[in-house]
Amino acid sequence: MKISIIGAGNVGSLAAMRIAADGLGDVLLIDIVKGLALGKALDLEDARPLLKSNYSIKGSDDIAQVADSDIVVVTAGLARKPGMTREELLLKNAQILKDVCLKIKELAQNAIVVIVTNPLDIMTFYALKVTGFKPNKLFGMGISLDTARFINLIAQELHLPATDIEALVMGAHGEGMLPLPSFAKVKGVKLDEFISDDKIKSLINNTVNRGAQIVANLGTGSAFFAPSAAIAAIVKTIVKDEKRTIGLCSYLNGQYGIKDTCIGVPCRLGKNGIEQIVELDLSKEELAVLTKSAAAVAQATSQILA
Ligand code: NAI
Ligand code: 2OP
Repeated sequence: MKISIIGAGNVGSLAAMRIAADGLGDVLLIDIVKGLALGKALDLEDARPLLKSNYSIKGSDDIAQVADSDIVVVTAGLARKPGMTREELLLKNAQILKDVCLKIKELAQNAIVVIVTNPLDIMTFYALKVTGFKPNKLFGMGISLDTARFINLIAQELHLPATDIEALVMGAHGEGMLPLPSFAKVKGVKLDEFISDDKIKSLINNTVNRGAQIVANLGTGSAFFAPSAAIAAIVKTIVKDEKRTIGLCSYLNGQYGIKDTCIGVPCRLGKNGIEQIVELDLSKEELAVLTKSAAAVAQATSQILA
């Protein structure tokens, strides 16, 4: 299994390390900056005896190397700076994504493509348009990260292990995300049995603002530890054909009443990509927020397609 990661920055290189160390396949790192991907690949290779794993990792500035990849993860782009929204990244990252996606189309037509570059939902839609790939084979990572953040914050609030908590975030990977407390459970018991409505509201706000909070503290760049873990979990689900339900930014064509837009929804994922978009029974209010979130994505998407 050949797994290429385009963009050897913070997220791409850490994802490469996780994917390689988990033995998920032969990993190739690509970056436009001369020597960057190769330097990081050499460093990652040196870690093999320490991690006691004979993984294969290569690096290059030549994107032609992605030929015949089974999975391509796209993290190429600029990261948010303090005070910058994901949407402000739109035009710069759209150009980068277009260049990269045209190469993927030319060199790795059968690959499953995971988009990570922000603004995620818009970039995923744009990548679908540029490549013409089927939506089950090209999707984005965003709400699985947001879900992890929501779970982490609930776990902290309740002083419980994060592994005891189930939760779900849907919608755009951005200010329009929709953390869903009605689907949150602690060992099978609904969250509102443990926490007041006010506390739940504050957990939702903190989840939505978590990425910006990290950006503000880092001072330069954005989150990469949890994002790379989210990428590795998606790659593992595909490689091992786990058929797990996982939140992905997916093309919707009528599901949840939303058409011709990419947005985060739960999906069953396996070796052929998305096998099913799971349609949950949302309340009227939840559906209204999701619809609004999708409309905002569609509106922003029209800017780069114009
Ligand atoms: P970074 O700046 O550390 O790395 C980006 C890399 O992309 C740089 O090394 C750059 O040289 C490379 N690059 C730029 N143009 C390229 C091209 N045409 N071909 C190959 N490589 C190219 O940024 P970081 O932190 O790794 O983030 C990457 C992207 O992922 C950003 O857009 C960021 O906003 C996004 N992101 C998305 C998340 C999500 O949940 N969807 C989570 C975290 C980051
Ligand atoms: C995040 O949510 C930057 O999208 C990235 O941290």
